[in-house]
Amino acid sequence: MDRIVVRGNGPLNGQIAISGAKNACLTLMPATLLSEEPLTLTNAPRLSDIRTMATLLQSLGAEVQTMQDGKVLAMSSHAADTHVADYDIVRKMRASNLVLGPLLARHGHAVVSLPGGCAIGARPMDIHIAALEEMGAEIELKDGYLHARAARGLKGADITLRFASVGATENVVMAATLAKGTTVLRNAAREPEIVDLVTCLRKMGAEIAGEGTDTITIGGMDRLHGATHPVVADRIETGTYMLAPAIAGGEVELLGGRIDLLGAFCEKLDACGIDVAETPGGLIVKRRNGRVDAVNVVTEIFPGFPTDLQAQMMAVMCTADGVSVLEERIFENRFMHAPELVRMGAQIDVQGGTATVTGVDRLKGAPVMATDLRASVSLILAALGAEGETVVNRVYHLDRGYERVEEKLGAVGADIERVSEDG
Ligand code: EPZ
Repeated sequence: MDRIVVRGNGPLNGQIAISGAKNACLTLMPATLLSEEPLTLTNAPRLSDIRTMATLLQSLGAEVQTMQDGKVLAMSSHAADTHVADYDIVRKMRASNLVLGPLLARHGHAVVSLPGGCAIGARPMDIHIAALEEMGAEIELKDGYLHARAARGLKGADITLRFASVGATENVVMAATLAKGTTVLRNAAREPEIVDLVTCLRKMGAEIAGEGTDTITIGGMDRLHGATHPVVADRIETGTYMLAPAIAGGEVELLGGRIDLLGAFCEKLDACGIDVAETPGGLIVKRRNGRVDAVNVVTEIFPGFPTDLQAQMMAVMCTADGVSVLEERIFENRFMHAPELVRMGAQIDVQGGTATVTGVDRLKGAPVMATDLRASVSLILAALGAEGETVVNRVYHLDRGYERVEEKLGAVGADIERVSEDG
C-alpha cells in the first residue's frame, strides 16, 4: 500500500486544475443502461471509484472504453443483458447501488447486493426501496441482495422522500425516465451532481423539470437515445484545495472551480477570514490577513455546508484562532479523522455528532492513518501547515476520490511525495 509523505514548508502559490466530479460521474455512468445507444462522458476524473463503476457496468454486459488517458468514457449497453450486480464489486463502493434504478427500468428486474456499511456509517437503502416500490417495483432482501422486480414495467408515481437522499433521488430520476406516466419526486436532493445527471438525461431525450429544487418532475419515455456529456467540475475537490492556502498560507487559483457549486461553503470561508474571488479561469483563494478565525459548522443537504467538506474544514479549524464547533448531521460516524489530527497535536473533543476544536498555534507532523476518503485528505491538508514530516498511510482511500493529489499540490509548492510500499 502506498503512503504519502508531506513536510510543512510554508505558503503555497500557483494553480490547481479541478477534475470532473467523482459523484457526478458515478451517477452518469449507470445512465448508459437506460439507452441502447452510446453514451460518452468527457472530463471524467481518473479515479479508482470510476474504474470500479466501469468494472461493474462491464459485468452487467455494458461496454466501457476509456480514452484520452481516462478522461473520456465511451459506453454502450446495447448488449447489456445481465441484471445481477455482484457483491464482490458492489462491496467496494456504495455508489454501485446507482445501477438499481437503471436496471429495473431497462430489464424490469435487478439483483443488487446491499453495498454493506462503510467507515462513515451504516448507509441503508430504505429510502431507495420505498420510492421504487411506489413505482410498482417489488423488492425483497435475500442473502444480502436486493431482488427487485417490475414485471409490467415501472409506473409514474407521486413520491415524497423521507430524507433528501442524493442516491435515492438519482435512482428514482433515472428509473422514472422509462416508466409509464409521469413521476413527481418531492423532498428531492438538490446537489449539483443531480443537476448534471438531469442535464445529461435531457440530452438523451428525457423530459425532466425541477432539477436543483426539492421537486423534480420526470415524464416517462419509451426509450432514450445516446448522447455526449461533459462531467461537471468537482465541487468537493474544489473546496478541498481552497482550504490548502487557508492552512499553509499563500495564494492558489483553482482552474475550473465554480462558486455556484459551493453553496454555503464560501460564506463560511468568508466568515473565517478566507478571501475567495472569481477569475476568468476559476477561483482564487488566500487568507485575508495571515490568520484564520474559528467558526462553527453544521453539515446539511445542499446548498448547506457539505458533509464531504467537514473533515477538511476541521483540519483548518485545528490552527484557527478560537474554538470551533462542528456538527455532523448527515452521517453518524464521520469524525474518524479527529483522533489522527489529535496525534498531530490538535485539541479536539468529540461528543456524538459534535466535535469541538480549540485552535492551537501549529500542528506537528506525525505518522497517521487514513480511514475514509475525506478523512484522508483532511490529514494531508493538516500536514501542509504542520511542523515537520507527516506520513499518511492507506492512501488507497485517497485515490478513490482525488486524482493525482501529490502532483496537484506539488505544483503549487507543497513538499509532498508518494512512497510505494516497496519504495
Ligand atoms: C452521496 O452519497 C455521496 N456519494 C456522498 O459522498 C455524500 O456524502 C452524500 O451523497 C451526501 O451528500 C455519491 O454521490 C457517490 P445519501 P449517498 O443517500 O447518496 C442516509 C464522498 O465522500 N440514508 O444522501 O449514499 C445515509 O445513511 C461520498 O464522495 C438512509 O438512511 O448519500 C446518510 O446518513 C461519501 N437511507 C444520509 O441518508 C437511504 O436509503 C445521506 O445519504 C439512503 C440514505
